[in-house]
Amino acid sequence: MDQASNLRQLAVQKKKKITLVSTSVKKERTTRIIAIASGKGGVGKTNLAINMGILFAKEGKKVIVMDADLGLANVNIILGIIPKYNLYHVLKGQKKLSEIMIDTPQGIKIIAGASGFAKLADMEDAQRNVFIENLADLSEADIVIIDTGAGVSRNVLSFVMAADEAIIVTTPEPTSITDAYGIIKSMSAESSQVDIKLVVNRVRDIGEARQVSDRVINIAGQFLNMKVENLGFVYEDEIVSKSVIKQKPFVMVSSRNRASICVDHLVKRLLNIQIEEKTGGMKKFMKSFFSFYKNEE
Ligand SMILES: Nc1ncnc2c1ncn2[C@@H]1O[C@H](COP(=O)(O)OP(=O)(O)OP(=O)(O)O)[C@@H](O)[C@H]1O
Ligand SMILES: [Mg+2]
Repeated sequence: MDQASNLRQLAVQKKKKITLVSTSVKKERTTRIIAIASGKGGVGKTNLAINMGILFAKEGKKVIVMDADLGLANVNIILGIIPKYNLYHVLKGQKKLSEIMIDTPQGIKIIAGASGFAKLADMEDAQRNVFIENLADLSEADIVIIDTGAGVSRNVLSFVMAADEAIIVTTPEPTSITDAYGIIKSMSAESSQVDIKLVVNRVRDIGEARQVSDRVINIAGQFLNMKVENLGFVYEDEIVSKSVIKQKPFVMVSSRNRASICVDHLVKRLLNIQIEEKTGGMKKFMKSFFSFYKNEE
């Protein structure tokens, strides 16, 4: 299908959705929580989180991107922002989550990460409760995107398991594919109810993207009995690293580069997926997050 017919189809689908939604407007607004995770590090999670967030905002959504990375907090770096406060201050009880949110010129709000997050599992019950209560502040958004650190630590899993949707990012590298499988396996071990979606980043062509997604989806289905949906792919594009150096998200550089067009497709696809009835909102997120840690004790 060419680009134009793709867009036409999207427009039709969108129209249909609008009529559907407008007939049931009374429904309470819920926050859609999307966690972005990967097995291997450096596969493009943070860039995807920010650029998707910006395009969601361009579609009129209120978006918060939360950096839940424990090691290197870098959402703010990619945006060229030096935050005064971050999650560390929330965990320490010095600030509320709403007080550390930063408005960006790109139309999204961000929450800067903290290395102190690694301690979440060791927190006192009371402290953890304060943090979970703080999560309610996220409900002002239509969409919360949680950028996690690589791997399958408890912290990462707790965010992923509590979210409505988990986007697993892989590149075509065999090590990255194996590690993507690893994180899906960890989720299956926790009998995850989360919708798992796959994005293949840094592909040379559509054929390569298809090969990788088929492989992950087939193995996850066959060996783990886990359903993984193919959300799409992003081309290898030098604009990504250039924009990281310039600290300007690539969708803001131009909307016509290959990477931006791909991210736009991912966002449109997510907006077209009817998840209203499944979206649990912040209440469900907080509850799942809490019980996940409880079960560990
Ligand atoms: N589509 C792409 N095309 C070219 N380069 C890319 C692409 N996506 C990511 N990269 C490169 O990979 C680097 C790492 O990206 P990013 O920081 O988003 O990964 P990450 O998964 O968040 O890493 P970490 O696991 O350390 O948090 C980027 O700085 C960029 O150089
Ligand atoms: Mg990152």
